Amino acid sequence: MDKKNKKFNVVIAGGGSTYTPGIVMMLLSNQDRFPLESLTLYDNDAERQAVLGEAIKILMHEQAPQIRYEYTVDPVVAFTGKDFCMAHIRVGKFAMREQDEKIPLRYGVVGQETCGPGGIAYGMRSITGMMEIIDYMDKYSPDGWILNYSNPASIVAEACRVMRPKARIINICDMPIATKTRMSYIVNKDPKDLDVRYFGLNHFGWWTSVTDELGNDLMPQIQDYVSKNGYLTPKAIEKQHMEPSWQATHRKAADLMEVDPRFLPNTYLKYYIFPDYVVEHSDPNYTRANEVMNGREKRIFGAARDIIAAGTAVNGGFEIDVHASFIVDLATAISYNTHEIMLCIVENKGAICNFDPTAMVEVPCVIGSRGAEPICQGYIPTFEKGMMEEQLAVERLVVEAYVEHSYQKLWQALTLSKTVPSATVAKKILDDLIVANKNYWPELH
Ligand code: NAD
Ligand code: G6P
Ligand code: MN
Repeated sequence: MDKKNKKFNVVIAGGGSTYTPGIVMMLLSNQDRFPLESLTLYDNDAERQAVLGEAIKILMHEQAPQIRYEYTVDPVVAFTGKDFCMAHIRVGKFAMREQDEKIPLRYGVVGQETCGPGGIAYGMRSITGMMEIIDYMDKYSPDGWILNYSNPASIVAEACRVMRPKARIINICDMPIATKTRMSYIVNKDPKDLDVRYFGLNHFGWWTSVTDELGNDLMPQIQDYVSKNGYLTPKAIEKQHMEPSWQATHRKAADLMEVDPRFLPNTYLKYYIFPDYVVEHSDPNYTRANEVMNGREKRIFGAARDIIAAGTAVNGGFEIDVHASFIVDLATAISYNTHEIMLCIVENKGAICNFDPTAMVEVPCVIGSRGAEPICQGYIPTFEKGMMEEQLAVERLVVEAYVEHSYQKLWQALTLSKTVPSATVAKKILDDLIVANKNYWPELH
């Protein structure tokens, strides 16, 4: 078929995700550049997905009856004949996120979704779910692509490299995109006109250059602003990352700038560079998981139930997730071989010259029909290289522990994490995490 007239078949894995309605609305608003033939939602929790699935059925019927739509828990139905799988699963759901955050905090250690022991625990769960999805796509749609933003993206990416090296998967994160948008407000530009250089691991990186569409250097102006205000900007149109806890994270970038003023930091570095501060400012009885369950989850599922009760989505509570248009950017760049440049998590292959060529790193990539090809970012300094090497070893040990069912290696991973003070504390946290994750992790010995 002529590629220019092709319409795409998409499955969203994690159909019951709080992000699904916003992404569906965003897909509908992008039909001119990424037209859909069919849209399928897939989840392994039928009851949860049905709430969003039924509300989206009403929405699709009203706004896009020409697009074939269904939601299912049957992998054959979900993954057959698909061009793209957009994956945002959360294995263990928010109940397990809460455990990931609260268990380390009991021992005075950072409790976070993707960083430190919580991220490691989540990684051990996500690997199983993601490998299952990769295998379904391989079996039922071997020519299709998986665009994955399920977390923890670094560990998932490393697991893909080791366990499914031939998988057609691109791992991507929205944080650099959201932060670049904030940078564009600082310099009063369109985010699309900002051209960046960046290196790191996922949730663990630095911008080394930001220029405008003419190549003018914007770094000094942005660095000056961030060193005073962090990434807090007066204007912020995004819906995500707006609650007080996220505002505090944006602000903390000012202190990160002091540690290395040469670059602009990813906000997630605060968990590694200021772990004591983070713990002091955490409530061990009410973490981000509680905020999300009482905020986003209630709002989205409430809106879905209202749409179902009203029988119409007109004036309903679903809103377009504009920020998620990077997923359409990625899909169109692959489909039409546009060579757009986007930050993705890929095998280094020399892009960071003085770093392990097999490491899964986050760098600008050229996106086209071959997938994501990294662009050389040059040599990195000792401070960042040292931090990255330690964190890479943590992520590798997690994947090795998963594959080998090794208690020892998972203990080493926790011990090596910059967020954990000693092997003694690491062991206590690990033993609690094992109990909490008994339905999700491979049995370790
Ligand atoms: P959520 O709990 O609302 O949704 C996740 C859904 O995944 C649930 O409905 C759950 O039942 C389903 N699920 C779990 N295991 C599954 C499996 N094996 N197969 C199919 N479905 C499965 O969570 P959320 O807050 O909406 O976040 C969803 C995911 O997106 C998380 O992994 C989150 O970390 C990630 N996320 C990533 C980015 C990024 O930039 N990379 C941004 C935002 C969210
Ligand atoms: C950012 C990160 C995601 C992460 C999300 C958490 O967008 O890039 O990887 O999942 O924040 O947001 P939440 O609102 O669930 O705490
Ligand atoms: Mn992310």
